[in-house]
Amino acid sequence: MSPANLSKTSPSLEEIYKPIRTYLPQVEERILEILATPNELSSEVIRYFFKSKGKFLRPALVLFGSLLGSDIPESAFLTAAALEIFHSATLIHDDIIDSAYLRRNLPTVNTKWNPQVAVLVGDYLHDKAIGAIFDTKSDQVIAAFLKTAGVVCDGEILELKEKNNFNLKEETYLTIIERKTAALLATCLESGAVLSGLDMERVLALNRFGIYFGMAFQIMDDCLDFMGKENEFGKTLGADLQAGVLTLPLIRLIQLLDEKGKAEVFSKVKSGLSHTQLGDLVLLLEEYGALNYSIEKANEFTERASLELAIFPDSPVRQSLEALLQYVIKRNR
Ligand code: IPE
Ligand code: IPE
Ligand code: MG
Ligand code: MG
Repeated sequence: MSPANLSKTSPSLEEIYKPIRTYLPQVEERILEILATPNELSSEVIRYFFKSKGKFLRPALVLFGSLLGSDIPESAFLTAAALEIFHSATLIHDDIIDSAYLRRNLPTVNTKWNPQVAVLVGDYLHDKAIGAIFDTKSDQVIAAFLKTAGVVCDGEILELKEKNNFNLKEETYLTIIERKTAALLATCLESGAVLSGLDMERVLALNRFGIYFGMAFQIMDDCLDFMGKENEFGKTLGADLQAGVLTLPLIRLIQLLDEKGKAEVFSKVKSGLSHTQLGDLVLLLEEYGALNYSIEKANEFTERASLELAIFPDSPVRQSLEALLQYVIKRNR
């Protein structure tokens, strides 16, 4: 598959979310209830951030997890809201760390206000998410959430430590993305499933599905950083590399280049990539098959994820999870 063809056919999220469509507005309401505050500044930032809609993947996964059990208990709505709030906190903080100025096609909180506001509002969201999770009164969900919150942070710290390391190994990259991204997606499915009373074997299968799905999701996100369209992706292209964060396409390219080629890429990246240089780098990534290699890796993860669904009988929810695996490879935002 050529990267150029990627955005052609993709099951839309709207179709994939069909089994949960009627429940999503309740999650949105819950988010605003949890975050309600008389503090004008926080309230303004919160309204701003949540007005620009993301994909709402984490709540969707909680609800899908629940529906694979029986129905959606009240505690699952709370969890769906809490995990989206937690995700939002990590994004607001991540944008400070990555010096990013565009998120969901709008200026990031750190740019529209300042990093101080972003730190504090991110913390506020983080604390509110913890409070909401405790309100579920499920020891298993509380434990899973607290553990994951630590893992996500650890992933971001590991990524920071490896910044500008041109010898970054693929294995370390995979550890980073499992922690910073896949762990939370897995916890979403796991929590939804636990709350609707699924047995341990199925809960664990869903957790593994979430990990593999999350790995593919982040690998594709990292490919889109090179080959996406900025207005669809909603984030600045080339941002990872600009910040010194090496991701799979570049790790692969470096593996394949000779010393001279490596030195050239290294000096380009170190001096800060211009628009044209980024274009040249993308051509090089294509020439060496580094983007296709990464997409192939993402495909391997979705194949592993798909195997985890075998334990569930066919149902609209299972079909949606299957479709999410196709979506993740073909997505453009
Ligand atoms: C962005 O997550 C951070 C990554 C894990 C790549 P999403 O792509 O799910 O962000 P939104 O919520 O849809 O904006
Ligand atoms: C995603 O980080 C993971 C977290 C926010 C914890 P990235 O830096 O890769 O994601 P984007 O590209 O900014 O959304
Ligand atoms: Mg980022
Ligand atoms: Mg980051």
